[in-house]
Amino acid sequence: MFILDHNGQEPLYKQLYKQIRARVLSGKMPAHSKLPSVRDLAAELATSRNTGDGAYQELAAEGYIYSRERSGYFVSALDHHTTPLAVKHAPRKQSRPPEPLPAYQYDFHPARLDPASFPAAQWRSCFLECLRESSREFSQYGDLSGDWGLRSNLQQYLEHSRGVICEPEQIIICAGLQQSLDLVAHLLRAEHATVAVEDPGYHLPRAVFRNNLFGIVPIAIGPGGIGLEALRASDCTIAYVTPSHQLPMGYVMPVANRLNLIDWAGTGDKLIIEDDYDSELRYHGKPIPSLQGLRPDGNIIYMGTFSKVLSPALRLSYMVLPRPLLAGFRMLYRDYFSTVSLLEQKTMAKFMAQGYWERHVRRMRIIYQKKHDAMLEAINRHFGSRAEIVGQGAGLHVVLQLPGETPGETEIIRTAAEHGINLFPFSGTCATAAPATTSLLLGFGGMDAAEIGQGIAKLSKITGNIQCNTGQ
Ligand SMILES: Cc1ncc(COP(=O)(O)O)c(C=O)c1O
Repeated sequence: MFILDHNGQEPLYKQLYKQIRARVLSGKMPAHSKLPSVRDLAAELATSRNTGDGAYQELAAEGYIYSRERSGYFVSALDHHTTPLAVKHAPRKQSRPPEPLPAYQYDFHPARLDPASFPAAQWRSCFLECLRESSREFSQYGDLSGDWGLRSNLQQYLEHSRGVICEPEQIIICAGLQQSLDLVAHLLRAEHATVAVEDPGYHLPRAVFRNNLFGIVPIAIGPGGIGLEALRASDCTIAYVTPSHQLPMGYVMPVANRLNLIDWAGTGDKLIIEDDYDSELRYHGKPIPSLQGLRPDGNIIYMGTFSKVLSPALRLSYMVLPRPLLAGFRMLYRDYFSTVSLLEQKTMAKFMAQGYWERHVRRMRIIYQKKHDAMLEAINRHFGSRAEIVGQGAGLHVVLQLPGETPGETEIIRTAAEHGINLFPFSGTCATAAPATTSLLLGFGGMDAAEIGQGIAKLSKITGNIQCNTGQ
């Protein structure tokens, strides 16, 4: 006798399926015993025949019962030593979604983009066109190096906007810098052991190379970029640099130093990894051409991303490998597939081909320049001579140095958070010691001009108050 809850949430056939399955598993229904016919079940349970039919079909598909032509359904012979007898499951712990991140009224995180700027309408139309045109391709794995159309469009874009000279076959589409660096680290592991990184600098390359068992040598940076003397004196054979907009200090490496760095790489199979992550966003003067363009046949791996101008959530980036690395790359990764969605790649290719990308870049430059200017104006107004701005004129952040005896970063970040302000710790970029001067990394991408002004006013008050309270 089966008991069904006609008012329950679970479909009747599912309830019946579970009860029969439990009896089969527990041995209460012996092997090869006959089950009631669908018609008898329907009469007994006062349900439609679909209920019994649905339950039997599912049980038969999973092998609990079998059917014999014109005889009905029978219980399968199960090995009760190996079948799970514990059909009564312990109540499942309800897994909870992760806690939402705290919502700050003023978010100065340097990787935030303008929340309203994603070109959703154009992206949607490109996406739908790709779906219509390329549905056959979506039944296959794509090329390891990425969609050819996107690589061709990128080659042209990089050449005219960044002076990068390469062929599409040298471009690899990746899912962010982390993946590009991982691929490169595996590729170079056999012949290289130690990587020079900028200090302060982006923390991610340190983590990726360390996880790939490379030695890391932090090299101090100055307005001229990575310290070339220290680099030459080190045993590093790879240098990771951000020459067009150093992260976090915003320095632009002068051309003389670029040429010296290229010469360093030219002596004895060394390599430069050029991370050109946000060079579309330069607000005054001409964009700084890439290092790669100075020596296209040099040992330079060029990396770029769509995360700063379009969206970091798309996870769409690229790298340009020097020709001598291509054969090794193809060999090492011959069994790999591209990890970037082909649909997103094709959409991006179309977005570029239809001219949306260039227009979007121009629009973003205007939007972020306004935010940048609002940030400078607010800092000057509220901090005045208490602070010095470093790295203005490009990108999505500036560095605010608070010279003199100011409170430390930890205290400022904690107090700011209590007042609804999110700050990314500048010390996170320091590979060795914390900076001698308290420094704040202030992103402006995620807020509008008014919020930037209010946030800076509040931050200025907070740092001033901490100073007063600590008697400084
Ligand atoms: C220096 C630098 N390079 C690269 C990236 C990000 O690249 P992606 O989003 O493509 O991983 C960032 C992100 O903040 C960055 O600061």
